[in-house]
Amino acid sequence: MNRPFRQFLQRTVEFPLLQRLGLREEGQDILEVGCGSGYGAVLLARLHPHGYVGIDLMPEQIALAQNRKLTNAEFLVRDAADLHCCWDGSKDVVVIFGVLHHIPAWREVITEIHRVLKPGGKLFVEEPDGRYVGTFDRFFHWGHPPAGLFRLKDFETYLSGHGFKIHRRVRTLGFGLYALEKV
Ligand SMILES: C[S@@+](CC[C@H](N)C(=O)[O-])C[C@H]1O[C@@H](n2cnc3c(N)ncnc32)[C@H](O)[C@@H]1O
Repeated sequence: MNRPFRQFLQRTVEFPLLQRLGLREEGQDILEVGCGSGYGAVLLARLHPHGYVGIDLMPEQIALAQNRKLTNAEFLVRDAADLHCCWDGSKDVVVIFGVLHHIPAWREVITEIHRVLKPGGKLFVEEPDGRYVGTFDRFFHWGHPPAGLFRLKDFETYLSGHGFKIHRRVRTLGFGLYALEKV
């Protein structure tokens, strides 16, 4: 996740696609879930957020992110299923670059994100379809948790039934990128 090719993809494909879906507004309070080594924070800094918080389960990733010395950015070791670092209704935007399929309790993460977003707040998320991840796992033994390998159509149904409206989406090459609004 800290490799140059991963960052290349994030910079040239994922972030521009999320921008096309509406991740463009400046001056927002942003939470990034599963921020890894903080490259997403570097990209999101282009939006001049009012505040940025990145959380990740792995202390070594958070240490790498903190070493970037970004101004106006805070990085915390946290489990995404328990976002007690954030008040109810405190965030304008939540961003996820390919994280939920690593988390068996991804539904709880969605509940927490819904809680911390302001009314009308936006969730921008990129995730692969679990069918393809599962197929690759059989050959490469990447070890994703089976409970995280959701199909994108089931993911969409879940979000729609749990307080989110899908505004825009792109489905391509087994990946889904979404702009959602808290309703
Ligand atoms: C594939 S990496 C993606 C990292 C970064 N978003 C990127 O696109 O490069 C998945 C990240 O999710 C984090 N993660 C996994 N389970 C988590 C959890 N329960 N809570 C928070 N972060 C978690 C991992 O530590 C890892 O940094």
